[in-house]
Amino acid sequence: MCGIGACLSRIGENVAPKIVKMLKNLEYRGYDSAGVAVLDLDNKISLRKGVGKIDKLAKELKFDEMKGFIGIGHTRWATHGAVTKFNAHPHVDCLNEIAVAHNGIIENYIEIRERLERLGHKFLTQTDTEVIPHLIEENLKNNSSVLESLKKALIELKGAYALVLITRREPDKIFFARFFSPLVIGINDRDIYLASDIPAFLEWTRKVIILQDGDYGFVSRDNIYVRNLFDPSVKSRNWVLVEWTKEMAEKGGYQHYMLKEIHEQPESIRRTVIMVSKQINGVIELLENAKDVYLLAAGTSYYASLHGQYAFAKYGFKSRAIVSSEFLEEVGSFIDKDDLIIGVSQSGETADTLKALRYAREKGARIIAITNVVGSAITRIADKSIIMGAGPEIGVAATKTFTSQVATLNYLILTWAKEHGADVDYLMNKLLVVHKDVERVLEKNEKKAKNLSEIMYKRNNAYYLGRGIGLPIAMEGALKMKEIAYIHAEAYPAGESKHGPIALVTHDFPVFGVVLKDETYHRMHIALEEMKSRGGFIVSVNEVNDQDTMRLSDYHFVIPENYSNILAPLLYVVPLQLIAYYTAIKRRLDPDRPRNLAKSVTVE
Ligand code: M6R
Repeated sequence: MCGIGACLSRIGENVAPKIVKMLKNLEYRGYDSAGVAVLDLDNKISLRKGVGKIDKLAKELKFDEMKGFIGIGHTRWATHGAVTKFNAHPHVDCLNEIAVAHNGIIENYIEIRERLERLGHKFLTQTDTEVIPHLIEENLKNNSSVLESLKKALIELKGAYALVLITRREPDKIFFARFFSPLVIGINDRDIYLASDIPAFLEWTRKVIILQDGDYGFVSRDNIYVRNLFDPSVKSRNWVLVEWTKEMAEKGGYQHYMLKEIHEQPESIRRTVIMVSKQINGVIELLENAKDVYLLAAGTSYYASLHGQYAFAKYGFKSRAIVSSEFLEEVGSFIDKDDLIIGVSQSGETADTLKALRYAREKGARIIAITNVVGSAITRIADKSIIMGAGPEIGVAATKTFTSQVATLNYLILTWAKEHGADVDYLMNKLLVVHKDVERVLEKNEKKAKNLSEIMYKRNNAYYLGRGIGLPIAMEGALKMKEIAYIHAEAYPAGESKHGPIALVTHDFPVFGVVLKDETYHRMHIALEEMKSRGGFIVSVNEVNDQDTMRLSDYHFVIPENYSNILAPLLYVVPLQLIAYYTAIKRRLDPDRPRNLAKSVTVE
């Protein structure tokens, strides 16, 4: 989704190059156009924007040559209005005195726009955002300060926003506000930064203020002024030192973030297990006291949650995984104060997930959040938060956070099961050292994945089949293939494939099978045989000693023995991630920046 990067120099340096760097650092969020506005040395707003990638725009529009000590920048992911230069942010008022960059959606923009048009305001774009500078321009006519005018505007706006604003009226400040959409402040001796996400400024500071819903205010050379629309007692916000390092948010010699993050999984799983073990207090009690338990998430996090449902079921714990955007319609009317919702979100900022959790909270349900980002919105809704140790994930396609989510959910259920007398020591001990085998899976399968990409890159369709614990793995594998290689990949419960999907299978149709040596093994084989006898090109991920599956397959990827249990996704998903990655590369696509996708989806 849109990215905001703003900078105020405390030592009189031009900020445009840093803003451009921040926007580059936020490219993973997804965007189609970008722009920068600075207050120039004549105290005028200088604005440059256009359609396309930052590098291209920086060259064409010469962002770096813009002079000014205060500025704002934006990468736009279109929601209202086509992808055009005019619709790109920042947006200005009629007098060109106020520039605003915004992430989110202003739901009541049409009525505000119509009222302002009747008052004589001229609008140049089709965006919802453009009402903000005009509304503030209008409010300023009553001789109020910029801060008061901003506050008055915020009270009128409905929807979600993170916004930054500069104005000739008070040229020493960057104003800001946040409601639902994320906004953080970074501080060091030279600058103050405002951004949608911490990696934007991680190379300059780890000292961060995480703004909360309703916060608004301004930053100036010596002041960070924060107030809250709903809580008059807020007079400031404390800063925290984030543990993420600059290196963690860089490519570290890999061609893409995605490949780096796939390779980071041994470490991210190891760290997550340690971190989760220190945050488990109170969680089992919540599980214990719940009437119904729902796992709520979107995209990859949903597949991790579905794994949670299967893993919980193995130990006799009933739960249900639900896609966030369907939650209200599917189970909304059943939720009450005795229920427990486990919200799973890498970013902690996914609008669909937050909306469903807020609803559940209003109904009195208890909430556990599993997220990768300290201080994210989900942690403020939850009764109890568990922060994973995956580190920053920049690639749009989730990889290491999927395995961290699985590791977290496994840790929860094994702890619960142990307290109920189940013999889980073997699996718990294996979870503590599984990272070593993930390393082996990477080593054994990477070259093979590359080889298979030579075949896959010419294909337009694929099936991914799994059963039981294998199903969410198949689903996640198919999502990766769709997202970054743009191959139509559909995942099915293997047994369901004969009820329709098999009609498409003819000579050389790729069918991926996640084959576990558990109670699903024989039924999984039956499904793959059915596909093979119709000409399917069978690619299996199976245990290293599984001769029968390898005989049946045209291509196979091997996993060490004894992982046909709830630890399976931590290993079986890895070859599928690599296959998607190398197929995207072979298709000359950029896996870090898939079209139409955004890293955190902060609109509904
Ligand atoms: O930040 P979240 O985990 O809440 O994000 C949920 C989905 O938007 C996300 O997993 C998305 O599906 C990714 N592109 C998957 O690779």
